[in-house]
Amino acid sequence: MPVVLVANPKGGSGKSTIATHIAGHFANQGHPVMLGDVDRQQSSRLWLSLRPPQVAPIRSWEAQGEGSVVRPPPGTTHAVLDTPAGLHGWRFKEVLALADKVVVPVQPSLFDIFATREFLDRLAERLSGKRVPRIGLVGMRVGLRTLAAERLREFAAQVEMPLVTELRETQNYVQVAAHGLTLFDLSPSRYERDMAQWAPLIEWLES
Ligand SMILES: Nc1ncnc2c1ncn2[C@@H]1O[C@H](COP(=O)(O)OP(=O)(O)OP(=O)(O)O)[C@@H](O)[C@H]1O
Ligand SMILES: [Mg+2]
Repeated sequence: MPVVLVANPKGGSGKSTIATHIAGHFANQGHPVMLGDVDRQQSSRLWLSLRPPQVAPIRSWEAQGEGSVVRPPPGTTHAVLDTPAGLHGWRFKEVLALADKVVVPVQPSLFDIFATREFLDRLAERLSGKRVPRIGLVGMRVGLRTLAAERLREFAAQVEMPLVTELRETQNYVQVAAHGLTLFDLSPSRYERDMAQWAPLIEWLES
C-alpha cells in the first residue's frame, strides 16, 4: 500500500496544498484514497469537511490517535499523510516508518532552503540502516527565471535529491482550497500551466 508522506518542518512551505492535491489527483483517477493528518491544526481534515459531495471522494484517515500514529486500514491502496510544521521526535519517527514516498515541499528562499537542509540531514540519520522511502523535493512558489529558483536547483543538486517539479505561485491554489477542492477536480483546460507543472510529480508518484 503506497503511503505518501508530505513533510517539511518549515511552516507554510506548502505541505497541506501538496497533500490535498496528491489526494485529489488519486481520487480523480478513480482510486479509493485516504487523506490523513497528524497536524494538531488538522488542516487537511478541515479541508475535507469543505469538500463538496459531487466531486471525486477522498476519505479521511484518522491517523492521529491518542498514542501512536494509526495505520490506514488494510486494503487501502492510496494514502496521503499531511504533517505539521515542526514535526520531530518519536511522532516523526512513526510517520516516517509508514511512508513509501516522502514529498518535501521547499520554497526558494535562503531560510527555507537552510531549514530544509537540516531536515534532510535528520531524515538521513533516521533512515540509516532502515527501509528507505523515496524522497523527492518539490519547489513551491517558484518563479521560473529567478535567481532564487537557480539557488533551489543548486541546493537539490548538492543534497543529491531529485527536484521532481517546480510549482509556480498562483492564487489558483488559494481559491480552490477555500472550497475543499483541488485543481484536479476542475476542468484541466482552465489550469493548463499548473497541470503541466504537476505532471512530473504525478509520474514520480506512480513510478
Ligand atoms: N504555489 C502557491 N501559490 C500561492 N499560494 C500558495 C502556494 N502554495 C501554498 N500557497 C498558500 O500558502 C499558504 C501556506 O500553504 P500550506 O498551508 O499548504 O503550507 P503548510 O506547509 O501546510 O503550512 P503549515 O506548516 O502551517 O502546515 C496557504 O494559504 C496556501 O494556500
Ligand atoms: Mg499544513
